[in-house]
Amino acid sequence: MKNPQLDANKALIHLLSTEGLPRAVLEQILDRAAEYVTEMEQGHKKFPVLPGKSVFNLFFENSTRTRTTFEIAAKRLSADVINLNINASSTAKGETLLDTIHNLEAMGADLFVVRHAQSGAAHLISQHVKPGIAVVNAGDGRHAHPTQALLDMYTIRHFKGDFTGLRVAIVGDILHSRVARSQIHALSTLGCPEIRVIAPKTLLPVGVEQLGVHVYHDMAAGLKDVDVVAMLRLQNERMSGAYLPSTQEFFKYYGLTADKLALARPDAIVMHPGPMNRGVEIDSAVADGHQAVILPQVTFGIAVRMAVMALVAENQARAVAHNKGYAA
Ligand code: CP
Repeated sequence: MKNPQLDANKALIHLLSTEGLPRAVLEQILDRAAEYVTEMEQGHKKFPVLPGKSVFNLFFENSTRTRTTFEIAAKRLSADVINLNINASSTAKGETLLDTIHNLEAMGADLFVVRHAQSGAAHLISQHVKPGIAVVNAGDGRHAHPTQALLDMYTIRHFKGDFTGLRVAIVGDILHSRVARSQIHALSTLGCPEIRVIAPKTLLPVGVEQLGVHVYHDMAAGLKDVDVVAMLRLQNERMSGAYLPSTQEFFKYYGLTADKLALARPDAIVMHPGPMNRGVEIDSAVADGHQAVILPQVTFGIAVRMAVMALVAENQARAVAHNKGYAA
């Protein structure tokens, strides 16, 4: 089946999910991000890749890290950035998502960054935009958060070199987590040989083993000798009903404390996509400890989002030029 994120040459034209993306595309994004990181470490702040292009940030759900780093990333690429204030937009008057998109297209949008509570929202938009306009998913429902997973992959590669021989544990509310799903697809494609998920039965999707992960319900067994611990927040906003007796009980069994982390390899890194709930899924001593790479994740997110926007825009422009060539 055709992957809607890729053109006929298998070049990335939208980023909707890490699922189904070839390893070469994932590595291309990570490599381009590495170039930006190196240049930014040398003091470069502006990269004239998207001059005159309009990036529309459409966040129908709350965000601190993703929205802000997309804005910084687009500005570093010299794009114009428009942050739609959803609460003050005509969405509140009943305008449909696609009508909103078509109106923004009429204003000259070149790239949409979309976060939405409905799984599939970014995919739907990508099917209805004009040729040449790219869509980047900034998190859709429980489905996918591909740029988060990519910045997580970047962080792992930065601290661990590569993915061969790594044991990675993803811990917490896997059931409601778009981050976990995107991480699992990216890790498998990049060749990580052992992906573990650790959670109570109520917070695991049925059939999660089919994604190629090893399932643990016990932190002591699941964290033993891992190289990477990727924590997740309880996604209360996506829960309907009671999945846990209490957050105190969750912390007792699944909260990452220094004692539990000591079961992982001594050089294990601790990641968290944020926002963190201290004392629920992670203890402050670990969140602020020397193994935590939570703030470097945020910083790398700028370069990874620059890489994604640069690549989709370049590939869209190439596809449009190619099609015009055929028409002529
Ligand atoms: N990790 C993440 O998506 O954080 P925000 O909700 O703050 O964007």
